[in-house]
Amino acid sequence: MAKILIIHGPNLNMLGTRELSIYGKTTLKTIDQQLTRLAKGHQLECFQSNSERDIIDKIQASSKAKVDVIIINPAAFTHTSIAIRDAFLAVNIPFYEVHLSNIYARETFRHLSYLSDIAQGVVSGLGPQGYYAALSAALENFC
Ligand code: DQA
Repeated sequence: MAKILIIHGPNLNMLGTRELSIYGKTTLKTIDQQLTRLAKGHQLECFQSNSERDIIDKIQASSKAKVDVIIINPAAFTHTSIAIRDAFLAVNIPFYEVHLSNIYARETFRHLSYLSDIAQGVVSGLGPQGYYAALSAALENFC
């Protein structure tokens, strides 16, 4: 039984009401329920925070908790957080980066990710399916 951690960054708690034309109608609860179903037989934890500090603490704690793989949508922290990058480098746990929208088809400031070059893989623009695809790859490769 593998341990998988899902991390959702800031404002993703508002999925289902937030900028519907970009992020769609699916709520975070629905995404987490589907991920839990798909990870049957494994231990999957879903964590959402609007705080950079809490996300860093969670990544650091993953090492002690012996998490096998992390799937993260860092949301706006993707484009700003060297601290989250450093947390991943410190724990050395494989992770996948997910974005609901295609960040490369949006504003230029969203084209930079501080995580993509150290991620196992990046999924952008598939909507909620991106999380499920990343989980499928994580299960195949690390569980
Ligand atoms: C996002 C894209 C980010 O640029 C944005 O800040 C988000 C969500 C996505 O899932 O498409 O909050 O990560």
